[in-house]
Amino acid sequence: MTDVWDLLAANHFAAEERRILSLFDEPDRFSAFSAEVDGILLDYSKTNIDASARALLIDLARQSSVEDRRDDMFSGCKINATEGRAVLHTALRANDEQDLVVDGEDVRPGVASTLERMRVFCQGVRGGTIRTPAGKEFTDIVNIGIGGSDLGPAMATLALTPYHDGPRCHFVSNVDGAHVHDVLKNLDPTTTMILVASKTFTTIETMTNARSAIMWLKAGVGAQTTGHLAAISSAVDRTSAMGIDPDRVFGFEDWVGGRYSLWGPIGLSIMLAIGPQAFGQFLAGANAMDRHFQSTELGQNLPVLLALVGIWHRNICGYGSRAVLPYDQRLSRFPAYLQQLDMESNGKRVTLQGEQVERPTGPIVWGEPGTNGQHAFYQLLHQGTDIIPTEFLIAAEGHEIDLREHHELLKSNCLAQSEALMVGRSQEQALKISAKLGFTEEALHNQAAHRTFPGNRPSVTIAYQKLTPFNLGALIALYEHRVFVEGVVWGINSFDQWGVELGKELANTLLPMVRRGHADDKDSSTQGLVAFLKS
Ligand code: F6P
Repeated sequence: MTDVWDLLAANHFAAEERRILSLFDEPDRFSAFSAEVDGILLDYSKTNIDASARALLIDLARQSSVEDRRDDMFSGCKINATEGRAVLHTALRANDEQDLVVDGEDVRPGVASTLERMRVFCQGVRGGTIRTPAGKEFTDIVNIGIGGSDLGPAMATLALTPYHDGPRCHFVSNVDGAHVHDVLKNLDPTTTMILVASKTFTTIETMTNARSAIMWLKAGVGAQTTGHLAAISSAVDRTSAMGIDPDRVFGFEDWVGGRYSLWGPIGLSIMLAIGPQAFGQFLAGANAMDRHFQSTELGQNLPVLLALVGIWHRNICGYGSRAVLPYDQRLSRFPAYLQQLDMESNGKRVTLQGEQVERPTGPIVWGEPGTNGQHAFYQLLHQGTDIIPTEFLIAAEGHEIDLREHHELLKSNCLAQSEALMVGRSQEQALKISAKLGFTEEALHNQAAHRTFPGNRPSVTIAYQKLTPFNLGALIALYEHRVFVEGVVWGINSFDQWGVELGKELANTLLPMVRRGHADDKDSSTQGLVAFLKS
């Protein structure tokens, strides 16, 4: 293992001497450094990875037992060791007939029956056979949840807007009362259903928002509140305490992590919006990516390649963040979704054995849709002092056939950015441009310095035909497995999230102090802030 890391470091030393653009002297650079499955193309040719670096990275994956760990995950081994859990979100989208046994029980029948309950419920709401107690059709659904109980469905529901033919879906997550207030103020309680989504049903934000939403319902529909409620949770006893009819509770098992849960009941709002059939396509896309991940050799395996590019940039080049830039407005919540998927999974500093990791793990993940970002932070991507590897996402076609010109512009902008980041603009070119603009000899060099682009900045592009339910499912699964592979190479547990606990505990101890306006046994900063915020 040390050898392969050392060899990669040596390879990088050599790579620093060349420009990415020089790799395109090889006529087949694009075809040799891109891979495709089911109409999803990963182009990583605009990185400084050459054939020898790629071979070493694949060796690294192999030596890290990525294939064995992958098989462990798919077969239900308890790879989430710190929580003693299997990791089987893939079972929620599997369609094979093979038994999948966890703790002596085949999990497949349970998955199938929950999916069937979801389908019947959604058909009922969408078709108008499940109505409010007053006999009205539900026009609006409010999903109240946070983290994995919000980001996935909120992102996917927005992404699949062209496929909506069910009730309108809204999302409330933040404990800030502004969120629940602003969402509910435009809705009619007599035709609204509240979905309380929380795996544990203890999350303070969700419980607080749910109670406020129930008060709002009570004010609007009186004693008939229960008929406007449903829940998604593993904790059925707690949902009953909130007055939710057990027939309207959709549970899932502890082998589905929060940030991997949109494929099952947490995806109920997606299914309500697009219908069971399109939701089935969404699952099929993810399943197709699972199959590809399980059966394709590492050198052609999209999740593995995307992970190895990530490791190259993070560990070998030392880049601390990566930007995800969807040229797809409906993927505007995709970077936020990936922040949880990636940073909650791989933001770890100890190995599975509890020892300090030897090298950096998960980078900072951030991003915004293009072209908006171009008019905001791209300045730093092109000319800033840090190199930030970028990941572009772009569809071959948009849904708006009468607005084709927009899509051509969108594609040109996306391709222009990865080209500009790689090629840059030399000082000589900048001098020529400045000269043409008529600057004096004195101003010329200064102007040229500002107009020079260093280039040689790496990017990958993920292209797909269209943002359909199938392709969205495949894209999400691609990123899920990328995070998994990176976590295996780093030797960490990508499936727990102990790092979110301390802040939650301290918030509980601070609440009475915030109410009183005194935090006597805290540091003076906290004391001062508590006093100021009380005033
Ligand atoms: O705060 C972290 C977290 O536990 C996430 O992992 C999870 O997705 C989120 O909170 C919400 O949890 P729950 O679904 O139990 O309300």
